[in-house]
Amino acid sequence: MSYLQDTSAPRAQTTISQLNTMYQSGEKIAFLTAYEASFAALMDHAGVDAILVGDSLGNVIQGHTSTTPVTIEEMVYHVECVARGNQSAFLMADMPFASYSTPEQAMDNAAHLMRAGAQMVKLEGGEWLAETIRFLVDRSVPVCAHLGLMPQSVHTLGGFKVQGKSPEAAKKLIAEAKLLQDAGAQMLLLEAIPSDLGKQVTQAIQIPTIGIGAGPDCSGQVLVMHDMLGAFPGRTPKFVKNFLEGQGSIEGAIKAYVKEVKAGTFPAPEHCFKS
Ligand code: KIV
Repeated sequence: MSYLQDTSAPRAQTTISQLNTMYQSGEKIAFLTAYEASFAALMDHAGVDAILVGDSLGNVIQGHTSTTPVTIEEMVYHVECVARGNQSAFLMADMPFASYSTPEQAMDNAAHLMRAGAQMVKLEGGEWLAETIRFLVDRSVPVCAHLGLMPQSVHTLGGFKVQGKSPEAAKKLIAEAKLLQDAGAQMLLLEAIPSDLGKQVTQAIQIPTIGIGAGPDCSGQVLVMHDMLGAFPGRTPKFVKNFLEGQGSIEGAIKAYVKEVKAGTFPAPEHCFKS
């Protein structure tokens, strides 16, 4: 059966309230990235709680070496594709590089992503972003903030490096997490930071943290689809596990990922960074 022609009873789309209930009960949230309808349908059927249409599509779909070339028009196109394939998973979309430089520009572009089917938008940045987050949230745009390694800042960071390793950097990251939460962010993605810092941030705020290379104590996990299927020809980051290995199918790999996230067995120590 093709999942895209699924004739079974329609399933309701997961809401932010349902993700919050999972967070409050301690159930881990399993996110994956997707960029098109067929994989979105497969993930939805395999039980992922949430799909992120990431600007990582710049790397894995378009073949760029960073996410900075990705445009809002390209993001809208991929969100529309994913929204057609997905039925019940929560749907988040990345705001691409330079699409949220002012609050007004952010609102305009977030509206395009939400009209395409996104239920929440994700923005990379620390203290400077608080005003924009407040502006969006006041206008009914749910926001996920993104701290730690922020790939859109690769050229200012000087490469893809683990963040928050020094006591000062860790302190700053915790302060920014609280500030962005207070500005109205309803979720926080943490990328490539030491596991103990992932745990401290998760304990310091009252919104779910979604980790990618941020240790097992985050409220949920996310991986780039191509990475977890071993389908990306580039360098494999330490935080990636190939879930297709030992599974007979892509659906099996996605189910194995969801099971390990829920059980708290992924990420294992070998996928984690130390201070
Ligand atoms: O663009 C993306 O895929 C991301 C990752 C951190 C999951 O933001």
